[in-house]
Amino acid sequence: MREEPFNNAPIGIFDSGFGGLTVARQVMKTMPDEDIIYFGDSARCPYGPRSQKEVDGFVQQICRFLLERQVKLILIACNTATAAGLRHAQQTFDVPILGVIGPGARAAVQATTNRRVGVIATKGTVESGSYTKAIRGLDAGITVFSVATPRFVEIAEQGIRMADGPIENYTSTASKVYVRPEFQEIAQDYLDPLRRCDIDTLVLGCTHFPLLKALIGSVAGRKVTLIDSAKEAARDVHETLSRRGDLAEPGREPNYEFFTTGSDLDEFRRFGSRVLQMSMTSVSHVDL
Ligand code: DGL
Repeated sequence: MREEPFNNAPIGIFDSGFGGLTVARQVMKTMPDEDIIYFGDSARCPYGPRSQKEVDGFVQQICRFLLERQVKLILIACNTATAAGLRHAQQTFDVPILGVIGPGARAAVQATTNRRVGVIATKGTVESGSYTKAIRGLDAGITVFSVATPRFVEIAEQGIRMADGPIENYTSTASKVYVRPEFQEIAQDYLDPLRRCDIDTLVLGCTHFPLLKALIGSVAGRKVTLIDSAKEAARDVHETLSRRGDLAEPGREPNYEFFTTGSDLDEFRRFGSRVLQMSMTSVSHVDL
């Protein structure tokens, strides 16, 4: 039994690359006292087209890496990895392991009024059927329409590389110059079938997609509520730590450490800082 009423061990968060930083940012906002170790598996990004078995293996590896660094909880900030490896990871390791699909599904169920929900995600996530199961597990009367939109991951990554400035602006700024005409067409191809299904809620079922929120929203239309699971996931982390008496000491200065399997540390630092809207100081390369 621990004597202190708090636990200053870090929270582990991981994704295939930059996408999970959209979730890490929310965790930092919600719990400003917590240390965080972020792991971006850039060398093996994208996870979307890979088999469930392969991604499950990555999840096991990364959880081990984080647990060697004494994390008190792991948040899988990647939908594809959540779909492929959350259950297995929970069965294997002792610390609480949370994913992003449950929180996103819950928010969608609460938001829809006509009970017609769209989900856009990677091929891996869509083929796993995880969102449909999670949403219909909460409300069996909801009809779920899922579409794999792998090119959105490409567009988000490409956009980060092509523009300067804060990330929320870059998609519109960059898209005007570089991406917009092509993006509009791709987005329309992906989203038109969902619009025809009369959805009123659209789950951004990939942590890269909040980076394209403005543009996806403009194509989906104003009547469609976009669900980004980052806030919900951060709330789950807070709730879990709080119930277990595992929150960090209030008022302390948090420490953030970033690891990437990618070889270009400078690029990871530059682009990551823009997604996080703060400068990433401690960035290290790691080979798993
Ligand atoms: N960020 C990952 C997710 O949430 C997708 C990117 C990838 O394909 O690796 O599903």
